[in-house]
Amino acid sequence: MRIATIAGDGIGPEVISAAMQVLNTAAPGDGFQYEVTDFPFSAAHFLETGHVLDDDDIAELKKYDAIFLGAVGGLPNDPRLAGGVIEKGILLKLRFELDQYINLRPVTLYPGIDTPLKDKTSEHINFVCVRENTEDLYCGVGGFVRKGTAQEVSNQTMVATRFGAERCIRYAFELAKTRERKQLTLVHKTNVLTFAGDTWFRTFKAVAEDYPEVTTDYHHVDACCMYMVAKPELYDVIVVPNMFGDIITDLGAAIAGGMGIASSGNLNPDGTAPSMFEPVHGSAPDIAGQNLANPIATIDSLGLLLRETGRIKGDKAAIACGERIGAAVKAVTPKFAGKSLDRSGYGTDEIGKMVADAL
Ligand code: NAD
Ligand code: IPM
Ligand code: MN
Repeated sequence: MRIATIAGDGIGPEVISAAMQVLNTAAPGDGFQYEVTDFPFSAAHFLETGHVLDDDDIAELKKYDAIFLGAVGGLPNDPRLAGGVIEKGILLKLRFELDQYINLRPVTLYPGIDTPLKDKTSEHINFVCVRENTEDLYCGVGGFVRKGTAQEVSNQTMVATRFGAERCIRYAFELAKTRERKQLTLVHKTNVLTFAGDTWFRTFKAVAEDYPEVTTDYHHVDACCMYMVAKPELYDVIVVPNMFGDIITDLGAAIAGGMGIASSGNLNPDGTAPSMFEPVHGSAPDIAGQNLANPIATIDSLGLLLRETGRIKGDKAAIACGERIGAAVKAVTPKFAGKSLDRSGYGTDEIGKMVADAL
């Protein structure tokens, strides 16, 4: 398997390095063969060279089987990075150009991890968010009128296509079908977003006809936030458009213990281009360079990379290796009992070694 890594900015290189230590340890046991190539795309690289990521870079990355990304982005208010030059220019460009239309984000309370939710256990917090990843408010459609004047108007358009909603919803039904509970909840805001929400709602109803074994429900996104805190056991699989999915998955990370645990895959399920795997968190400039970041989210994203890419490419050794990494993470999380996941006192490299030792 040829893996392209983009370690990125801030804690990105630290968490990727911990994950690579885990991969080096895990691979031989399963006879998994891989090759890693590092790419420099990041805010730091842009500030140094003026280069973000162009079409030639995309063509180069398409030659790989998978992309493994740490995090990109600088300080939120850096004027040199204004206009989302890095987030749009790297992350969203990759997700869009490589047609990674599914953003898979599990919300799982692991053994030993403390949730801030009272009286909730692993039994209550065990669901997956299927976030649409190529449409919605993320399309960059909109603009200004009379910018900089007292009459300034800006708009940002929420784009929903039948094609985009349907392929995402269908993926979510297929996933729900394979799970024990077989339950799928659509999350939107159809009471206010009466155009985009309506497209999603009707598409959801139509696709549901093909999956009689899956039970379905619908929640408005505001109520979903309340239920995720008060009754997370309602959820098995959630399907959600891009912007709401971004927001509820940070909430999902928090109820599962913190940003240091939340993994994700940007999937091109058809295999027409590589999928990309990354932790849900960002570059965390506040703790960068201090060996404080928890790399579990990144290590778990690596497990997901091996399992998902293995499935798409028919690589059984990769799947086995990904499964062992997932199991090793679960063997290590009890060591966080009684500690804060994101400020545990363990070093980034130390946690990487703990998982490698468990392997
Ligand atoms: P963030 O996720 O980087 O940080 C939010 C908070 O969570 C911070 O207090 C941070 O210390 C903590 N945190 C995050 N990951 C952690 C970990 N592994 N272990 C322990 N604590 C952790 O979000 P932000 O501060 O809003 O964004 C910082 C930069 O990252 C911005 O430039 C943003 O655009 C970018 N960003 C990038 C990605 C990505 O590359 N996928 C995702 C989100 C944000
Ligand atoms: C995420 C991030 C990105 C998003 C940003 C950095 C573009 O928040 O991966 O969740 O909004 O999708
Ligand atoms: Mn986010």
